[in-house]
Amino acid sequence: MSQEISNLGEMEGEVYWPAPEVTAAAHVKEYEALYKQSLEDPEGFWAERAEELEWYEKWDEVLDDSDAPFFKWFVGGKTNIVHNALDRHLTTYRRNKLALIWIGEPGEHRTFSYFALNRNVSRFANVLKSMGVKKGDIVTIYLPRIPEQMFAMLACAKIGAAHSVVYGGFSVESLAERVEDAQSHVLITADGGWLRGKIVPLKDIADEAMARQPTIESCIVVRRTCQDVYMEPGRDYWYDDLVGLPIANTKCATEPMDAEDTLFVLYTSGTTGRPKGVVHTHGGYMVFTHTTLKYVFDIRDEDRWWCAADPGWITGHSYIVYGPLLLGATSFMYEGAPNYPYPNRWWQMIEKYGISILYTAPTAIRGLMRFGEAWPNRHDLSSLRLLGTVGEPINPEAWRWYHTVIGKERCPIMDTWWQTETGGFMITPLPITPLKPGSATRPFFGIEADVVDDDGQPVKEDEEGYLVIKTPWPGMLRTVYKDPDRYREQYWDKFETMYQTGDSARKDKDGYLWIIGRMDDVIKVSGYRLGTAEVESALVSHPDVSEAAAIGLPHELKGNAIHAYAILRDGLEGSDALAEELRNHVGHEIGPIAKPETITFVDTLPKTRSGKIMRRLLKARALGLPEGDISTLED
Ligand code: WT7
Repeated sequence: MSQEISNLGEMEGEVYWPAPEVTAAAHVKEYEALYKQSLEDPEGFWAERAEELEWYEKWDEVLDDSDAPFFKWFVGGKTNIVHNALDRHLTTYRRNKLALIWIGEPGEHRTFSYFALNRNVSRFANVLKSMGVKKGDIVTIYLPRIPEQMFAMLACAKIGAAHSVVYGGFSVESLAERVEDAQSHVLITADGGWLRGKIVPLKDIADEAMARQPTIESCIVVRRTCQDVYMEPGRDYWYDDLVGLPIANTKCATEPMDAEDTLFVLYTSGTTGRPKGVVHTHGGYMVFTHTTLKYVFDIRDEDRWWCAADPGWITGHSYIVYGPLLLGATSFMYEGAPNYPYPNRWWQMIEKYGISILYTAPTAIRGLMRFGEAWPNRHDLSSLRLLGTVGEPINPEAWRWYHTVIGKERCPIMDTWWQTETGGFMITPLPITPLKPGSATRPFFGIEADVVDDDGQPVKEDEEGYLVIKTPWPGMLRTVYKDPDRYREQYWDKFETMYQTGDSARKDKDGYLWIIGRMDDVIKVSGYRLGTAEVESALVSHPDVSEAAAIGLPHELKGNAIHAYAILRDGLEGSDALAEELRNHVGHEIGPIAKPETITFVDTLPKTRSGKIMRRLLKARALGLPEGDISTLED
């Protein structure tokens, strides 16, 4: 191995070497050889990883690629992710170990051992069963960041139902269209959630969504903020009342599932139209989240792991709920805003609860960085061992601040690149990897990633191209819910045997990957994924707007911000007041994160002769850049 080490010594650019004590303690002590081996025999590699978990029945085949791109993993195997995330811990010392430490924004805290978590999940599962929820159903969950969010997800999985979690920051139309697509009969929500000292009125939003999509027969309401909410007799039930019923006892068998049975559907924004339901399974997703979290964040029993995302996004599904529980880890969860009531809220909690690993997004780091070092410096952050980031490229300035001010130059930063579709980390350092600020470094084991041109040929060193994945992996999405054609078109049609990520990237001389950004009409706003099409359709749902276009432009804190252009109906004139009304309308339909930064009233929009809006041109004009090829522009 000495040769590799000396090679690495000649690495290009700004490189941070892991401290010897970090390397010595890491689960994985060497990357190159294991990576090579994992690509030579991916099925062998993944089979070994799957052996680390429990199966009711072992699989017959690790990978079935006979119907590619509809890959199947651990075919014939029977398990349930909840068996591995909860049940199997209950007969070990982990029974009494904390699974979750939860802090509410107003300051309450609640903790759950694995034993207690299991009681809550089992009760909830029995309630769902009594409502007729069964295998094959999709339950929609629309909750704030509270423990019941975790209970609800696990309760569904335990009885073999799939969940569809809708982020609590989404609003009426986003919720309604997801309920409709999933044809959910049961909705789980709360009276409200706390954010920056204010109540987010989740039940009111849910009521409006249910009025638009009447498929919901039963709505379970968790009491969180305790204000009065409308409760429709025969449809709406308080969670507290239900789990107090004799039916809600704490014994509930975990349903054996086929490895390929659906665990959840999670809607995410795509290039066009409505969000698509990304489908993940019990078997492959379980193996993938377990392995990636174990190797990348090197989870140990004594760790206190804090993934500061929301369970409503894939980051929370994989690394707040499933991954940590599969590993028997202790997770920390905080309900509210990072700077509420003061910008030291996070740092104070890291000190008080002895957090050892913090995983967050560049936008949060930039947001906290702007308050200055004095806030973190008031706190003892020495419990931190590793740091992580996800969601968008991290600018080197934020990386260095995170590394120096938060990690005191001791904690390696895991910049993890992945997607809702990938289920878990795909391109990521390990604690032993030499780091370059702004690069997600190298692919995870079993993953072959490359940067290619339009014909699928690898581009030259340092040249920009399409980021593709050349190998199937257990955590990959299986399809788009109810729309296999869209799955094929979106991810496989362009390069056939390679998965198209939608991102552009470049690879440097050391084989390090640098993600540049989305190449499609997806915008990452503060790390949240939104589609221009959704913002546009929200705008045209306002009676005054006849046409609209949305684009993303660089923003110092948010990474990207949405800017919109609107053509008003005949005879109407734009004003600041109308622009504000439209912004609020988008907020009401999709959610506050989707509110455009600016709305410009225009008479026409640049379109191709076939009628497609040329967002690229709008963007170039807004940034004062050359307009590029405009031969397809209609007059
Ligand atoms: C898109 C996927 C999966 C976690 C949360 C986002 C961007 C994600 C990174 C990173 C640069 C990143 C990509 C990707 N992205 N992580 N470390 N560096 N870009 O999941 O909402 O499905 O978004 O987020 O553009 O395609 P998502």
